[in-house]
Amino acid sequence: MKDSFGREIRYLRISVTQRCNLHCAYCGAAAPAEEELSPDTLALLAAGFAREGIRKIRLTGGEPLVRTDIAEIAAKIKYAAAPDILGITTNGLLLAQKATALRAAGVDAVNVSLDSLDASCYRKLTGRDALSPVLDGIETALSLGFDRVRINAVLIRGVNETGAEKLIGLAKAYPLDVRFIELMPFSDAGEDPRLRIPSAEILSMFPFLCPTGETDGTAVYYTAHGFRGKIGLISPITKKFCGSCDRVRLLSDGRVKPCLGQPETYELLPFINDPEALREAIRNAILRKPAGHRFEDPNTHSHALNRIGG
Ligand code: GTP
Ligand code: 5AD
Repeated sequence: MKDSFGREIRYLRISVTQRCNLHCAYCGAAAPAEEELSPDTLALLAAGFAREGIRKIRLTGGEPLVRTDIAEIAAKIKYAAAPDILGITTNGLLLAQKATALRAAGVDAVNVSLDSLDASCYRKLTGRDALSPVLDGIETALSLGFDRVRINAVLIRGVNETGAEKLIGLAKAYPLDVRFIELMPFSDAGEDPRLRIPSAEILSMFPFLCPTGETDGTAVYYTAHGFRGKIGLISPITKKFCGSCDRVRLLSDGRVKPCLGQPETYELLPFINDPEALREAIRNAILRKPAGHRFEDPNTHSHALNRIGG
């Protein structure tokens, strides 16, 4: 369905847990343990959104793979909501172990968050010495023939920006896309604009990147001679793309959050046993989707990213 600004809402991001097995500096404070929705409840809610026009679903967290029932969640959502694309965004730590089950459950696309290919820099950024299992996870995902494997990296000035070239090298060596996301203000680190590397600066660092003319709503894509995958630049700060936003989010407590960068959320759980009331609640949340984020306003705080799932 369309929101009140005429944007067709087709994409639902479902955070299945607040828990995470990493502690990245830019993400936000560790979340307290809370009850998580069952696979059946998640599937029922996803089906409710599908009836209102959602065609793409992405599972996020926290870290979605810390849920031992993640493959069951994926399978039940795929069956109940029948999205055109079912994706998952993971930090990759448990991906090598779980990728086969996810593929069998009907997951089509995997995005892996990876900010550095240098083991000590990775440890500094994430709090864990875990680069090698993440790389195993990426290799496993590639070997299983997912429709798409993408890497998400956030560059932080003075911390990992010198590693950008190595990250770009992944798209040369493997059939995967590497996307750089501008640091957003979700934590103390994210609040400091001096730490952000604008997309234009990345382009000036790598003048060999040529635009492909493609965009997927968030990223604008580039390629280079001999590359097997693409390079994407996601610029929520320097090229706000809210005008074409087609997303809403379901938080792990069952509330809908229509905008990543605004605090408002709306309840759904009181209505799950009444399809008509659930429909109304979903439609109301979509109609209240704001025009855009207000990251530039220091007084508008959203939730910590581990609650929203990116
Ligand atoms: P694809 O299906 O591969 O296009 O995935 P995606 O980009 O939708 O999902 P992913 O979880 O990989 O998200 C990448 C990052 O893009 C997020 O973590 C955010 O940093 C950013 N992003 C995604 N959605 C939004 C949004 O609605 N607004 C803003 N400002 N940034 C977003
Ligand atoms: N700014 C931009 N992106 C962020 N991510 C996490 N925190 C931030 C932030 N402050 C990204 C992660 C992950 C995605 C879900 O969100 O790198 O790929």
